[in-house]
Amino acid sequence: MNDSNRRLHGTWSSRWTFILAATGSAVGLGNIWKFPYIAGENGGGAFVLIYLVCILLVGVPVMMAEVMLGRKGGMSPINTMRHLAEEAGGHRAWSAVGWVGMVVGVLILSYYSVIAGWALHYIGEMAGGALQGASGRDSAMRFAGLLADPKRLMALHTVFILLTMGVVIGGVTHGLGVAVRTMMPLLFLLLVVLLLYGADSGNFAAGLDFMFSFRFDGLTWKGVLEALGHAFFSLSLGMGAIMAYGAYMPEDAPIGKSVVTIAFFDTLVALMMGLAIFSMVFAVPGLAPDAGPSLMFQTLPVVFGNMSGGLLFGVLFFMLVALAAWSSSISLIEPGVAWLIETHRFNRITANLLLGGIAWVLGIGTVLSFNLWQDYTLGDSTFFDVLDFLTASILLPLTGMFIAIFAGWVMRKEVATAALGDRAPRLLALWYWLLRYVAPVAIGGIFLFGLYSKLI
Ligand code: PFF
Repeated sequence: MNDSNRRLHGTWSSRWTFILAATGSAVGLGNIWKFPYIAGENGGGAFVLIYLVCILLVGVPVMMAEVMLGRKGGMSPINTMRHLAEEAGGHRAWSAVGWVGMVVGVLILSYYSVIAGWALHYIGEMAGGALQGASGRDSAMRFAGLLADPKRLMALHTVFILLTMGVVIGGVTHGLGVAVRTMMPLLFLLLVVLLLYGADSGNFAAGLDFMFSFRFDGLTWKGVLEALGHAFFSLSLGMGAIMAYGAYMPEDAPIGKSVVTIAFFDTLVALMMGLAIFSMVFAVPGLAPDAGPSLMFQTLPVVFGNMSGGLLFGVLFFMLVALAAWSSSISLIEPGVAWLIETHRFNRITANLLLGGIAWVLGIGTVLSFNLWQDYTLGDSTFFDVLDFLTASILLPLTGMFIAIFAGWVMRKEVATAALGDRAPRLLALWYWLLRYVAPVAIGGIFLFGLYSKLI
């Protein structure tokens, strides 16, 4: 990153701050809330297997490419892509990758914040004892009651957007950097405490069986596309978040090692959450593994409400969810904020107000899709379903594919591999091969099949 940009945005104080920030971006609602429910909807084990393959063969190489591009370009993703394309003799249109990423970030934030608002609500529910002794039915009714209340959902959504803007306004070094260094250790501590507490509370054997026995009958091409899309969503790929974070990284840190660490933690949290949630689902009568987005919010309160000390752990759990969501949401607007500052001379406050404001307005659509607009559907998808499918299953893999093509085919090999900062030649060769051939073909193929089976 050149000096003027370093002054403009700041940098991470060390390689570890970068790893914490990127892990903070990766570990979020995607791991805790979404992964278990889409695995549940797609039959469990087989989906989990495909997901792991996608992370390893596509997610990790594309993430390395994103960080590498960010570090090499040193600017917001839009300007980074334009600059690197010029340098490599490619077309200026490559900056579209950055543009789409910025728009997708704001779109995702708009619904991410609504769901994170549910977690905020449940901190209060748990603390107030409202779910003490609740049955599966009570819990389902309380959750339905929350979804039916647009005013409350709007208030929670507003609080979460303000929290997000509050951190991003502080800048890279003092806002994001300090936030992740405080939040991430707390997050891991909470996770370990909860796991220890939950280990003997559910039907662990049934959970294990559901997550890891490969029954392929539940899996469709649409499910495979969702697994791929979710690998991108979960690692925060395909929208410039990781590229922007890469730009603030120290020049000499090895990228491969850092990325493997981040992907490892991200996958670990998803698997642990899946296991915990399904163990509990199978232990509580009346709860189904394919409940969809409401899965976590209906099951866990029943478990916490019926165990000694459960309310305290319930509060801790929903704090963990909110914290994980917060350390992710800040990375959703950072790329756009950085671009507005670089190109349009905004300051951090106005850039945040603009992008946060747009996400806030769009979030109204998601809020209403759970109540007043429930019946306005496309096929049987609500506004929220359409937005989620469009961003996570379509736009993230597509931009991810273009990132792989750019780094693998447009940039010169020596430039790309040198910028990684890793030295093991075999691993570099493996990375380059996965990036050039496996990632684009896998993404393109799964994409076409998945879309075809969704549309027919
Ligand atoms: N990775 C986040 C999660 O799993 O919840 C979601 C996310 C954050 C996606 C940032 C994309 C992104 F740029």
